[in-house]
Amino acid sequence: MIHDEDISRVPYRVFAGADRRPGSLQDAAAALRTGALVVFPTETVYGLGAATTAPSAVRRIYEVKGRPQRNPLIVHVADISAAREVAAVWSDLADDLARHFWPGPLTLVVARGPNVPDIVTAGGPTVALRCPSHPAAVALLRQAGVPVAAPSANPSGYVSPTSVEHLAPTVIAAAAWIIDAGPCPGGIESTVLDVTRVPPRILRPGLITAEQIEAIAGPLAETRDMHDRHVKSPGLLGRHYAPHARVVVVRSEEEALGTFATSGEPPGMVAWLRLREPASAPAGCRVVCMPEDPRAYARALYDTLIRLDREGVRLIMVDEPPDSGVWRAIRDRLLRASLR
Ligand code: TXA
Ligand code: MG
Repeated sequence: MIHDEDISRVPYRVFAGADRRPGSLQDAAAALRTGALVVFPTETVYGLGAATTAPSAVRRIYEVKGRPQRNPLIVHVADISAAREVAAVWSDLADDLARHFWPGPLTLVVARGPNVPDIVTAGGPTVALRCPSHPAAVALLRQAGVPVAAPSANPSGYVSPTSVEHLAPTVIAAAAWIIDAGPCPGGIESTVLDVTRVPPRILRPGLITAEQIEAIAGPLAETRDMHDRHVKSPGLLGRHYAPHARVVVVRSEEEALGTFATSGEPPGMVAWLRLREPASAPAGCRVVCMPEDPRAYARALYDTLIRLDREGVRLIMVDEPPDSGVWRAIRDRLLRASLR
């Protein structure tokens, strides 16, 4: 449980997107209520939010991100009772999971209630709900007093921002207020779980693992492997969570060396995110040693990709991560980033 006073323990500052003048959390909450956009931190990544009670503001989120209109948004709520007001059906299972994992990085897809505008759900019959644990997000949601639809605050398809330094100028310009609380502790997006079906199915792996959910919900429906989904429905997915640089997941040192040798990239334009101690690296290839702990890896990943992009790196080779626990979410993001 997070209390309002917790916000006083997180250093944060609020500034206007247009001219960087300072503001307060109250300013940001009031702006949401009156139909403006606010960038706010969560424990996973930064979000670009609009009140669900202001459909035209929600529409602007799609415009600013260049997001396809058929891709629905997650609605952020302050607590379970706010979630119940948004959902048409709040099942015992949803309640158990929320009691266990909220506030935190688990998004529950449930039947959509009558107060949710079409623009939030892309016209679909379900709504994705999440109660974030970041103290600044909790305080904002409480003060705003309205559900907040928010995707990650990146241009559609690009890497999600995990700090304010990652925000694109277009996103900064569109935000009435930006709440800067430093780097997000999680680093990758929430787990999305469809609880409208039995057994429930993970739609997007995240920091809350299948094993953790199964301990509460029982066995889950199988989540198909990203490669498999890509091969079966290439039009549906496409490249996502991707830097401008080409990403190649490599399964062995030989594969990496071969990829490097045939890349045709000039020296200094190739990076290799390594999980294992490098035996050797070819000249002209930048080796970045990534954390061996999956949570630390997740926290570092997007910042690393964005930094390399900004340095003009054109090819990023990544050691294939393991296929268990939190690593599964990291694999998912890397495989999507590597689609072309
Ligand atoms: O950690 C997070 O979830 C972050 C922070 C800001 O909360 N948000 C985030 O939102 O990652 P976004 O929009 O970048 O990703 C939301 C994902 C998308 O893959 C979207 O298709 C899926 O959730 N989604 C949203 N509503 C859905 C629904 N009703 N049914 C199925 N999937 C849904
Ligand atoms: Mg996103």
